[in-house]
Amino acid sequence: MKKILVLMASSVVFGCAEVQKVEVPKNKEQKIVQVGEETSMKLLKTLKGALMDAMQKGGPDEAVEVCSKKAMALTSQIEKETGYSVKRTTFNYRNPANAPDKYEAEALRYFEESIKKGQMPQYYVQAINENGKVMYRYYKPLKVEGVCLTCHGDPNLMDKKLLEKIKALYPNDKAVGYKDGDFRGVVRVTIPADKI
Ligand code: HEC
Repeated sequence: MKKILVLMASSVVFGCAEVQKVEVPKNKEQKIVQVGEETSMKLLKTLKGALMDAMQKGGPDEAVEVCSKKAMALTSQIEKETGYSVKRTTFNYRNPANAPDKYEAEALRYFEESIKKGQMPQYYVQAINENGKVMYRYYKPLKVEGVCLTCHGDPNLMDKKLLEKIKALYPNDKAVGYKDGDFRGVVRVTIPADKI
């Protein structure tokens, strides 16, 4: 009895938010990858479509406005459509809302370390137990392409007015200085275990 009381007391003190990593069941991985890939591609297609549209219509100046005003709204729209939480995240973020949490940081380090060893994994999967509810997380790596350099490239080579506009919107911007082919970050898709 005494033991039980002590256990109960310690879980009241320490156990309010129980969040911890757990094993991804091997027989679930294929389905997680399939759902994660579909959902992340949906987000990327939507965002890239909006970006290219704005670049064609009004050039990079207008596209920056579109990115800053629409990227988060389009992300929420994809969450509503698919029912899964999605996020773009990176260590070098422009929008502070995209900063990584502890588990996202682990996924980012996994890709960075693999790249150092000359590998480029297609994805990374985690399982996290949040207060008894298991959530799978699928991470898709993102690479920088030519068109991205307009707004994420070497600041010395970027259009001065555009750079000023970006700095005014994001005073602590970390998302410049990239080269074609660089690892930029990930798309994270969270899938509740009972959906798989
Ligand atoms: C017209 C300028 C512009 C171009 C071109 C552009 N971006 Fe961005 N990007 C932004 C802005 C502004 C934000 C911050 C707003 C947001 O998306 O949350 C951003 C944010 C991001 C983020 C979210 C993380 C963060 O830093 O906040 C990723 C990932 C990203 N861009 C990747 C890319 C990739 C990959 C390309 C090329 C396919 C690209 N961007 C092209 C302007 C641009």
